Amino acid sequence: MSLTQSSTGVTPSSSSSPFTKVTMPALAEMKRQGKPISALTAYDYSIARLVDEAGIDLLLVGDSLAMVVLGHENTLAVTVDEMLHHTRAVRRAVRRALVVADMPFGSYHGSTADAVANAVRFVKEAGAEAVKIEGARVDLIRALTLAEVPVVGHLGLTPQSVHRMGGYRVQARSTEGAEELKLEAQAVARAGAAALVLEGVPREVAAAITASLDIPTIGIGAGPDCDGQILVFHDLVNLTFAPPAKFVRRYGDAAELIRSAVEHYREDVEHRAFPSDAESYHLSAAAARKTVQSEFGDSRLDDVDAIVNQDALLDWEEISQA
Ligand code: KIV
Repeated sequence: MSLTQSSTGVTPSSSSSPFTKVTMPALAEMKRQGKPISALTAYDYSIARLVDEAGIDLLLVGDSLAMVVLGHENTLAVTVDEMLHHTRAVRRAVRRALVVADMPFGSYHGSTADAVANAVRFVKEAGAEAVKIEGARVDLIRALTLAEVPVVGHLGLTPQSVHRMGGYRVQARSTEGAEELKLEAQAVARAGAAALVLEGVPREVAAAITASLDIPTIGIGAGPDCDGQILVFHDLVNLTFAPPAKFVRRYGDAAELIRSAVEHYREDVEHRAFPSDAESYHLSAAAARKTVQSEFGDSRLDDVDAIVNQDALLDWEEISQA
Protein backbone atom coordinates (compact mmCIF):
# COMPACT_ATOMS: atom_id res chain seq x y z
CA MET A 1 0.00 0.00 0.00
CA SER A 2 1.39 3.42 -0.84
CA LEU A 3 1.77 6.11 1.84
CA THR A 4 -0.93 8.13 0.18
CA GLN A 5 -3.59 5.41 0.10
CA SER A 6 -6.13 5.84 2.87
CA SER A 7 -7.12 2.79 4.88
CA THR A 8 -10.67 3.05 3.58
CA GLY A 9 -9.23 2.69 0.10
CA VAL A 10 -8.73 -1.02 0.54
CA THR A 11 -12.15 -2.07 1.74
CA PRO A 12 -15.22 -2.28 -0.46
CA SER A 13 -17.02 1.02 -0.64
CA SER A 14 -19.75 1.34 1.96
CA SER A 15 -21.15 4.62 0.71
CA SER A 16 -22.59 3.40 -2.58
CA SER A 17 -26.30 2.89 -2.98
CA PRO A 18 -27.95 -0.04 -1.19
CA PHE A 19 -27.86 -3.35 -3.02
CA THR A 20 -29.40 -6.76 -2.70
CA LYS A 21 -26.87 -9.56 -2.29
CA VAL A 22 -27.02 -12.07 -5.12
CA THR A 23 -27.68 -15.58 -3.83
CA MET A 24 -28.21 -18.92 -5.53
CA PRO A 25 -32.02 -18.72 -5.09
CA ALA A 26 -31.86 -15.19 -6.55
CA LEU A 27 -30.29 -16.59 -9.73
CA ALA A 28 -33.10 -19.14 -10.02
CA GLU A 29 -35.60 -16.31 -9.58
CA MET A 30 -33.88 -14.33 -12.33
CA LYS A 31 -34.40 -17.27 -14.66
CA ARG A 32 -38.07 -17.47 -13.72
CA GLN A 33 -38.47 -13.75 -14.42
CA GLY A 34 -36.51 -13.94 -17.68
CA LYS A 35 -33.81 -11.55 -16.40
CA PRO A 36 -30.40 -12.25 -17.97
CA ILE A 37 -27.62 -13.18 -15.52
CA SER A 38 -24.26 -11.45 -16.03
CA ALA A 39 -21.13 -13.32 -14.98
CA LEU A 40 -17.38 -12.81 -15.32
CA THR A 41 -14.26 -14.47 -14.03
CA ALA A 42 -12.08 -12.63 -11.50
CA TYR A 43 -8.95 -13.71 -9.72
CA ASP A 44 -7.76 -10.85 -7.53
CA TYR A 45 -8.92 -8.09 -5.22
CA SER A 46 -8.79 -5.01 -7.46
CA ILE A 47 -10.47 -6.51 -10.52
CA ALA A 48 -13.05 -8.37 -8.41
CA ARG A 49 -13.92 -5.12 -6.70
CA LEU A 50 -14.39 -3.26 -9.98
CA VAL A 51 -16.40 -6.11 -11.47
CA ASP A 52 -18.62 -6.28 -8.40
CA GLU A 53 -19.12 -2.52 -8.28
CA ALA A 54 -20.09 -2.62 -11.96
CA GLY A 55 -23.04 -4.81 -10.97
CA ILE A 56 -22.05 -8.20 -12.38
CA ASP A 57 -24.22 -10.89 -10.75
CA LEU A 58 -21.78 -13.80 -10.50
CA LEU A 59 -17.99 -13.83 -10.13
CA LEU A 60 -16.26 -17.08 -10.95
CA VAL A 61 -12.77 -17.64 -9.66
CA GLY A 62 -12.13 -19.80 -12.69
CA ASP A 63 -9.35 -22.31 -13.09
CA SER A 64 -8.64 -20.33 -16.26
CA LEU A 65 -6.42 -18.39 -13.85
CA ALA A 66 -3.86 -21.12 -14.57
CA MET A 67 -3.59 -19.68 -18.09
CA VAL A 68 -4.44 -15.98 -17.89
CA VAL A 69 -2.79 -15.19 -14.54
CA LEU A 70 -0.17 -17.90 -14.01
CA GLY A 71 0.88 -18.40 -17.64
CA HIS A 72 0.31 -22.17 -17.92
CA GLU A 73 -0.54 -23.74 -21.25
CA ASN A 74 -3.86 -25.16 -20.02
CA THR A 75 -5.93 -25.27 -16.83
CA LEU A 76 -4.63 -28.59 -15.53
CA ALA A 77 -1.70 -27.42 -13.40
CA VAL A 78 -3.45 -25.12 -10.95
CA THR A 79 -3.71 -26.50 -7.41
CA VAL A 80 -6.34 -26.34 -4.68
CA ASP A 81 -4.08 -24.10 -2.59
CA GLU A 82 -3.59 -21.67 -5.48
CA MET A 83 -7.33 -21.58 -6.16
CA LEU A 84 -8.02 -20.98 -2.46
CA HIS A 85 -5.49 -18.13 -2.38
CA HIS A 86 -7.21 -16.33 -5.29
CA THR A 87 -10.73 -17.09 -4.04
CA ARG A 88 -9.88 -15.41 -0.71
CA ALA A 89 -8.67 -12.29 -2.53
CA VAL A 90 -11.88 -12.12 -4.58
CA ARG A 91 -14.02 -12.77 -1.52
CA ARG A 92 -12.45 -9.81 0.28
CA ALA A 93 -13.47 -7.54 -2.60
CA VAL A 94 -17.00 -8.67 -3.32
CA ARG A 95 -20.10 -7.45 -1.51
CA ARG A 96 -22.96 -8.01 -3.94
CA ALA A 97 -22.15 -10.71 -6.48
CA LEU A 98 -22.32 -14.45 -5.91
CA VAL A 99 -18.77 -15.82 -5.57
CA VAL A 100 -18.23 -19.23 -7.19
CA ALA A 101 -14.91 -21.10 -7.04
CA ASP A 102 -13.77 -23.55 -9.67
CA MET A 103 -12.56 -26.86 -8.31
CA PRO A 104 -9.28 -27.56 -10.09
CA PHE A 105 -8.35 -30.67 -12.03
CA GLY A 106 -7.62 -33.59 -9.70
CA SER A 107 -9.42 -32.12 -6.69
CA TYR A 108 -12.68 -34.00 -7.32
CA HIS A 109 -11.61 -36.91 -9.51
CA GLY A 110 -10.79 -39.35 -6.70
CA SER A 111 -13.07 -40.46 -3.89
CA THR A 112 -16.30 -38.61 -3.13
CA ALA A 113 -15.09 -38.06 0.45
CA ASP A 114 -11.91 -36.33 -0.77
CA ALA A 115 -13.88 -34.25 -3.27
CA VAL A 116 -16.38 -33.12 -0.62
CA ALA A 117 -13.52 -32.26 1.77
CA ASN A 118 -11.84 -30.17 -0.94
CA ALA A 119 -15.10 -28.40 -1.80
CA VAL A 120 -15.77 -27.62 1.86
CA ARG A 121 -12.37 -25.86 2.00
CA PHE A 122 -13.54 -23.41 -0.69
CA VAL A 123 -16.58 -22.48 1.39
CA LYS A 124 -14.99 -22.61 4.84
CA GLU A 125 -11.50 -21.24 4.19
CA ALA A 126 -12.08 -18.96 1.22
CA GLY A 127 -15.71 -17.81 1.49
CA ALA A 128 -17.00 -19.24 -1.80
CA GLU A 129 -20.77 -19.51 -2.02
CA ALA A 130 -20.69 -22.37 -4.52
CA VAL A 131 -18.19 -24.53 -6.36
CA LYS A 132 -18.10 -25.38 -10.04
CA ILE A 133 -17.19 -28.83 -11.30
CA GLU A 134 -16.87 -30.07 -14.86
CA GLY A 135 -18.67 -33.12 -16.28
CA ALA A 136 -21.85 -35.01 -15.53
CA ARG A 137 -20.69 -36.24 -12.10
CA VAL A 138 -24.14 -36.78 -10.71
CA ASP A 139 -23.12 -38.76 -7.60
CA LEU A 140 -20.67 -36.09 -6.58
CA ILE A 141 -23.16 -33.28 -7.26
CA ARG A 142 -25.63 -35.07 -5.01
CA ALA A 143 -23.02 -35.54 -2.26
CA LEU A 144 -21.90 -31.90 -2.41
CA THR A 145 -25.48 -30.65 -2.32
CA LEU A 146 -26.17 -32.88 0.70
CA ALA A 147 -23.06 -31.38 2.31
CA GLU A 148 -24.60 -27.89 1.83
CA VAL A 149 -22.13 -26.92 -0.87
CA PRO A 150 -24.08 -25.48 -3.81
CA VAL A 151 -22.81 -26.74 -7.16
CA VAL A 152 -22.55 -25.08 -10.55
CA GLY A 153 -22.22 -27.77 -13.22
CA HIS A 154 -20.17 -27.30 -16.38
CA LEU A 155 -20.89 -29.27 -19.57
CA GLY A 156 -20.02 -29.13 -23.26
CA LEU A 157 -16.43 -28.04 -23.85
CA THR A 158 -14.87 -28.83 -20.49
CA PRO A 159 -11.27 -27.54 -20.53
CA GLN A 160 -10.08 -30.03 -17.90
CA SER A 161 -10.85 -32.78 -20.47
CA VAL A 162 -8.51 -31.21 -23.04
CA HIS A 163 -6.47 -34.39 -23.48
CA ARG A 164 -9.53 -36.63 -23.85
CA MET A 165 -11.14 -34.19 -26.32
CA GLY A 166 -7.87 -33.80 -28.25
CA GLY A 167 -8.03 -30.00 -28.02
CA TYR A 168 -10.60 -27.30 -27.41
CA ARG A 169 -13.42 -28.21 -29.77
CA VAL A 170 -17.07 -27.24 -30.00
CA GLN A 171 -19.08 -30.15 -28.55
CA ALA A 172 -22.47 -31.70 -29.31
CA ARG A 173 -22.49 -30.84 -33.01
CA SER A 174 -24.32 -34.02 -34.08
CA THR A 175 -27.95 -34.89 -33.33
CA GLU A 176 -26.82 -37.74 -31.09
CA GLY A 177 -24.25 -35.55 -29.34
CA ALA A 178 -26.87 -32.87 -28.76
CA GLU A 179 -29.33 -35.39 -27.32
CA GLU A 180 -26.62 -36.88 -25.07
CA LEU A 181 -25.66 -33.46 -23.77
CA LYS A 182 -29.27 -32.60 -23.03
CA LEU A 183 -29.69 -35.83 -21.04
CA GLU A 184 -26.49 -35.05 -19.11
CA ALA A 185 -27.70 -31.53 -18.36
CA GLN A 186 -30.99 -32.85 -17.06
CA ALA A 187 -29.20 -35.43 -14.90
CA VAL A 188 -26.92 -32.74 -13.47
CA ALA A 189 -29.96 -30.60 -12.62
CA ARG A 190 -31.81 -33.54 -11.06
CA ALA A 191 -28.75 -34.33 -8.93
CA GLY A 192 -29.08 -30.90 -7.34
CA ALA A 193 -26.85 -28.51 -9.32
CA ALA A 194 -28.01 -24.95 -8.77
CA ALA A 195 -26.84 -23.63 -12.15
CA LEU A 196 -25.09 -24.96 -15.23
CA VAL A 197 -22.31 -23.49 -17.36
CA LEU A 198 -22.62 -24.51 -21.02
CA GLU A 199 -19.38 -23.96 -22.90
CA GLY A 200 -18.59 -24.33 -26.59
CA VAL A 201 -21.86 -25.81 -27.85
CA PRO A 202 -24.06 -24.86 -30.81
CA ARG A 203 -26.57 -22.14 -30.07
CA GLU A 204 -29.52 -24.40 -30.88
CA VAL A 205 -28.35 -27.07 -28.44
CA ALA A 206 -27.83 -24.54 -25.63
CA ALA A 207 -31.27 -23.06 -26.31
CA ALA A 208 -32.96 -26.48 -26.13
CA ILE A 209 -31.14 -27.38 -22.90
CA THR A 210 -31.97 -24.00 -21.35
CA ALA A 211 -35.65 -24.42 -22.18
CA SER A 212 -35.70 -27.91 -20.68
CA LEU A 213 -34.20 -26.96 -17.28
CA ASP A 214 -35.53 -25.15 -14.21
CA ILE A 215 -32.01 -24.14 -13.16
CA PRO A 216 -30.28 -21.26 -14.94
CA THR A 217 -27.79 -21.95 -17.72
CA ILE A 218 -24.82 -19.63 -18.13
CA GLY A 219 -23.26 -19.74 -21.56
CA ILE A 220 -19.78 -19.15 -22.89
CA GLY A 221 -19.54 -19.78 -26.61
CA ALA A 222 -23.08 -21.17 -26.42
CA GLY A 223 -25.10 -18.41 -28.07
CA PRO A 224 -27.51 -15.81 -26.72
CA ASP A 225 -30.36 -18.05 -25.56
CA CYS A 226 -28.82 -19.16 -22.26
CA ASP A 227 -30.16 -17.61 -19.06
CA GLY A 228 -26.88 -15.80 -18.54
CA GLN A 229 -23.48 -15.20 -20.08
CA ILE A 230 -19.96 -15.53 -18.73
CA LEU A 231 -16.62 -14.47 -20.21
CA VAL A 232 -13.06 -14.68 -18.99
CA PHE A 233 -12.26 -11.18 -17.72
CA HIS A 234 -8.90 -11.09 -19.50
CA ASP A 235 -10.62 -11.82 -22.85
CA LEU A 236 -13.06 -8.95 -22.28
CA VAL A 237 -10.27 -6.38 -21.89
CA ASN A 238 -7.57 -7.80 -24.20
CA LEU A 239 -5.11 -9.15 -21.67
CA THR A 240 -4.71 -12.61 -23.17
CA PHE A 241 -1.91 -12.08 -25.74
CA ALA A 242 -3.65 -14.29 -28.32
CA PRO A 243 -6.27 -13.84 -31.02
CA PRO A 244 -9.69 -14.08 -29.35
CA ALA A 245 -12.05 -17.01 -29.88
CA LYS A 246 -15.12 -16.40 -32.06
CA PHE A 247 -17.41 -15.99 -29.04
CA VAL A 248 -15.29 -13.30 -27.33
CA ARG A 249 -16.27 -9.66 -27.60
CA ARG A 250 -13.61 -7.20 -26.47
CA TYR A 251 -15.08 -4.31 -24.54
CA GLY A 252 -11.81 -2.54 -23.82
CA ASP A 253 -8.08 -2.62 -24.48
CA ALA A 254 -6.30 -2.86 -21.14
CA ALA A 255 -3.12 -4.05 -22.86
CA GLU A 256 -2.87 -0.77 -24.77
CA LEU A 257 -3.79 1.29 -21.69
CA ILE A 258 -1.18 -0.41 -19.49
CA ARG A 259 1.55 -0.42 -22.15
CA SER A 260 1.14 3.28 -22.84
CA ALA A 261 0.95 4.24 -19.13
CA VAL A 262 4.10 2.25 -18.34
CA GLU A 263 6.04 3.64 -21.32
CA HIS A 264 5.04 7.17 -20.35
CA TYR A 265 6.20 6.59 -16.75
CA ARG A 266 9.55 5.16 -17.93
CA GLU A 267 10.13 8.16 -20.19
CA ASP A 268 9.31 10.59 -17.35
CA VAL A 269 11.76 8.84 -15.01
CA GLU A 270 14.46 8.82 -17.68
CA HIS A 271 13.93 12.56 -18.34
CA ARG A 272 13.66 13.43 -14.60
CA ALA A 273 10.11 14.63 -15.23
CA PHE A 274 8.85 12.41 -12.42
CA PRO A 275 8.46 13.14 -9.55
CA SER A 276 7.80 16.88 -9.59
CA ASP A 277 8.26 19.20 -6.62
CA ALA A 278 4.50 18.99 -5.98
CA GLU A 279 4.84 15.22 -5.74
CA SER A 280 7.60 15.56 -3.11
CA TYR A 281 7.44 15.89 0.67
CA HIS A 282 8.62 19.13 2.31
CA LEU A 283 9.95 20.06 5.69
CA SER A 284 7.75 22.24 7.88
CA ALA A 285 8.98 25.85 8.07
CA ALA A 286 10.12 25.32 11.68
CA ALA A 287 12.07 22.18 10.88
CA ALA A 288 13.58 23.86 7.85
CA ARG A 289 14.75 26.81 10.01
CA LYS A 290 16.35 24.41 12.47
CA THR A 291 18.08 22.47 9.74
CA VAL A 292 19.34 25.58 8.02
CA GLN A 293 20.45 27.14 11.29
CA SER A 294 22.44 24.10 12.35
CA GLU A 295 23.99 23.78 8.94
CA PHE A 296 24.64 27.40 7.95
CA GLY A 297 24.15 29.51 11.11
CA ASP A 298 21.83 32.49 11.37
CA SER A 299 23.14 34.12 8.23
CA ARG A 300 21.10 31.94 5.92
CA LEU A 301 17.76 31.92 7.77
CA ASP A 302 16.27 34.32 5.26
CA ASP A 303 16.83 31.70 2.63
CA VAL A 304 14.71 29.13 4.44
CA ASP A 305 11.74 29.31 2.10
CA ALA A 306 13.92 28.83 -0.91
CA ILE A 307 15.73 25.93 0.69
CA VAL A 308 12.48 24.24 1.77
CA ASN A 309 11.41 24.28 -1.83
CA GLN A 310 14.61 22.52 -2.77
CA ASP A 311 14.19 19.79 -0.20
CA ALA A 312 15.02 17.19 -2.75
CA LEU A 313 18.59 18.26 -1.95
CA LEU A 314 18.22 17.21 1.69
CA ASP A 315 18.84 13.56 2.35
CA TRP A 316 16.13 11.20 3.58
CA GLU A 317 17.46 11.06 7.13
CA GLU A 318 17.00 14.81 7.57
CA ILE A 319 13.49 14.69 6.14
CA SER A 320 12.37 11.75 8.25
CA GLN A 321 13.72 13.33 11.44
CA ALA A 322 11.82 16.54 10.76
O1 KIV B 1 -12.30 -21.25 -15.62
C1 KIV B 1 -13.08 -20.56 -16.29
O2 KIV B 1 -12.80 -19.41 -16.65
C2 KIV B 1 -14.35 -21.15 -16.68
C3 KIV B 1 -15.26 -20.32 -17.53
C4 KIV B 1 -14.76 -20.37 -18.91
C5 KIV B 1 -16.66 -20.76 -17.43
O3 KIV B 1 -14.63 -22.25 -16.33
